[in-house]
Amino acid sequence: MSTFKAPKGTYDLLPPDSAKYLAVRAAIAAPLRDSGYGYIETPGFENVELFARGVGESTDIVTKEMYAFETKGGDRLALRPEGTASVLRAALESNLHKTGNLPVKLWYSGSYYRYERPQKGRYRHFSQVGAEAIGAEDPALDAELIILADQAYRSLGLSRFRILLNSLGDKECRPVYRAALQGFLRGLDLDEDTLRRADINPLRVLDDKRPEVQKQLTDAPLLRDYLCDACTAYHDEVRELITAAGVAFEDDPKLVRGLDYYTRTTFEFVHDGLGSQSAVGGGGRYDGLSEMIGGPALPSVGWALGVDRTVLALEAEGVELDLPATTSVFAVPLGEEARRVLFAKVTELRKNGVAADFAYGGKGLKGAMKSAHRSGARYAIVAGERDLAEGVVQLKDMESGEQRAIGVNEIVAELESRLG
Ligand code: HAM
Repeated sequence: MSTFKAPKGTYDLLPPDSAKYLAVRAAIAAPLRDSGYGYIETPGFENVELFARGVGESTDIVTKEMYAFETKGGDRLALRPEGTASVLRAALESNLHKTGNLPVKLWYSGSYYRYERPQKGRYRHFSQVGAEAIGAEDPALDAELIILADQAYRSLGLSRFRILLNSLGDKECRPVYRAALQGFLRGLDLDEDTLRRADINPLRVLDDKRPEVQKQLTDAPLLRDYLCDACTAYHDEVRELITAAGVAFEDDPKLVRGLDYYTRTTFEFVHDGLGSQSAVGGGGRYDGLSEMIGGPALPSVGWALGVDRTVLALEAEGVELDLPATTSVFAVPLGEEARRVLFAKVTELRKNGVAADFAYGGKGLKGAMKSAHRSGARYAIVAGERDLAEGVVQLKDMESGEQRAIGVNEIVAELESRLG
């Protein structure tokens, strides 16, 4: 063991479990790729100001959780705590929005960093797959994204998740609501910190998990009752489209997200098997973000699904992903000549698209067959001096145990045909 350990709040993905993470990422990406989303990759760090302005100066993410640092050259950077601000920054910087083809639909997959108090499902380094549709105000786009996330989760075999849906209004109606909520909150028995929060960001108080606070919020005014006609119509349309697609959701008038850029549609995917860190994904519309980071008006919508928590959700539901063994053929050479012959066969198999592996390190028959079993390979090819003298190798079906001699020159074609 080395003296070093993975930093607090982080963990390593190791085989065989790491295969689940790859499968989850692929399953989330698949419906996006099939729906016109192009892949985007942005740097792991950005100018710290991008997140301060985009995610919000008063959010926990910016005030407490950001890995911000100054470089030797004096730049103020931060490890990305989320993807939306970066993706929009990149789209604006490359003028993707000016190609006359809106919305710009993008998907991404990567690592994100938040200095949070670690616990199960909450890490300082975690991974998301996300999607952003930039530059269109169309309820069908909000609906599309929610439907695609639902489809991704169902394709993984998940069923115990729920979709919580809300509208946060727009710049017309939200300020009116905000003032009403502030008036209400000032009349409550709250600690100083919470009162300060009520001044800066009153909607966030609705999200306070403490029972003594929640108890006082039962009669809080709801944004739902303050939505302007345009926001109500927009939200009704989103709800109708999702319903028509057969995707079940719950209206959650108290759903507030931890990032400041949201307007109108907001949603969260929660899983009931995860305890307190139940949000497996979330997103919504962010019509004002582009202007907040110096761009033109570009109404947009997106989501990000947490890969770590999605894997935990699979475990909570006892879903076993159908992950085919990565190796189909395992070669076991006995002796020097066999090593050369079988190594060449393995190379040839690989060139022909057959996944093959080899018993390295001069193992004896017993140890090598153990490796063959561990690899999950359907077939083993075993050869010793006597086999080669007869021009054959032994082909063993690892499932049935059946073994027979096949000509050295026929083995590749035989395996190709057997593996179909
Ligand atoms: P978020 O709700 O902050 O939204 O994160 C989305 C998902 O990332 C969460 O639901 C959770 O599964 C996962 N996640 C967040 N923090 C952690 C953590 N500390 N440990 C493990 N998993 C975590 C966003 O990031 C927005 N950018 C989503 C979005 C995209 N909105 C519009 N477009």
